[in-house]
Amino acid sequence: MYETSEATRPAGAALGHKRAQVRAFAEEFERDLVNGLSKTTRSIAPKYFYDAAGSALFDRICELPEYYPTRTELGILARHSRELAECIGPGSEIVEFGAGSLAKIRLLLDAFPARDAPRCYLPVDISAEHLESSARRLRADYPELRVQPVAADYMREEQLAGLEASPGRRIGFFPGSTIGNFDLVDAAAFLRLAARLLRGGGLLVGVDLVKDAQTLHRAYNDSQGVTAAFNLNLLRRANDELGANFDLGQFAHYAFYEPVKRRVEMHLMSRRTQVVRIGAREFTFEEGESLHTENSHKFTIEGFRAMAVSAGFEPGPVWTDDARLFSLHWLESPLRSVND
Ligand code: AVI
Repeated sequence: MYETSEATRPAGAALGHKRAQVRAFAEEFERDLVNGLSKTTRSIAPKYFYDAAGSALFDRICELPEYYPTRTELGILARHSRELAECIGPGSEIVEFGAGSLAKIRLLLDAFPARDAPRCYLPVDISAEHLESSARRLRADYPELRVQPVAADYMREEQLAGLEASPGRRIGFFPGSTIGNFDLVDAAAFLRLAARLLRGGGLLVGVDLVKDAQTLHRAYNDSQGVTAAFNLNLLRRANDELGANFDLGQFAHYAFYEPVKRRVEMHLMSRRTQVVRIGAREFTFEEGESLHTENSHKFTIEGFRAMAVSAGFEPGPVWTDDARLFSLHWLESPLRSVND
């Protein structure tokens, strides 16, 4: 699912392609939600948070005083941008996984002298609308850079199959500690997939660190209720896109740090016994029963490096903030062709 063709594909065909894409995403959402609600412990993948409204809510989360990861990572990027540019090297092609609003890439782009600037930037994100509008703004500010958005689920290798083989050095950028939202098996699978795609290039990845439970609790239970709205948006989306009838007032945001698994869990907890319909299917929620919507794993530096090694990367430098809240890792991928 490679969007280079926006400029070359006839307008009607592009529209048809987009509609088919939207339909495919909706079918997958329905299938995953119905499966997730049919399990004894109900769950749904957090990727379904990110429609246009969910992505906008996430952008607001990133600005919250309690949500330290974004500003801490931005601080690390700004402070070490020269060293990062050296690791990346001249004339590269940067693939950003789960790109969102494309704010962080600007710090990297600004770190290069004009002659060494990256040639091409491929932001991959599941939220096509959000991606397109962010890409337009980036093109306006960096006219020399080829910006080629890819509306895809970066965990689905077949959706990335079109990433063109180009002669330049390819770098992966995966900031925000989104890798923490995968279960540990999927995180390792993602790293293996990235290692294949990068064929010898480096991966720069943001990783949130294990820390005291109070800081974590506050970050996922903000006082303005934005995280709660983000969590509940998933149900609003199911109502709008799948014709479900979730009563948003009857589900509560519930987030806590689970120290054994080293992860923040987010749930939507039923405030009372209720029946929810999705099409012809009915699901009964008991009072206090939850739909598990997200895990956000926290890592030690050593633990993350060990996982990267097991996925085939060679770990390089790691940068952190002074309080060691967050880390940025440079990982070198093995030299292989895309088709290996
Ligand atoms: C995108 N991801 C890294 C965020 C996190 O912290 O796990 C998503 C999020 N969920 C609640 N607040 C932010």
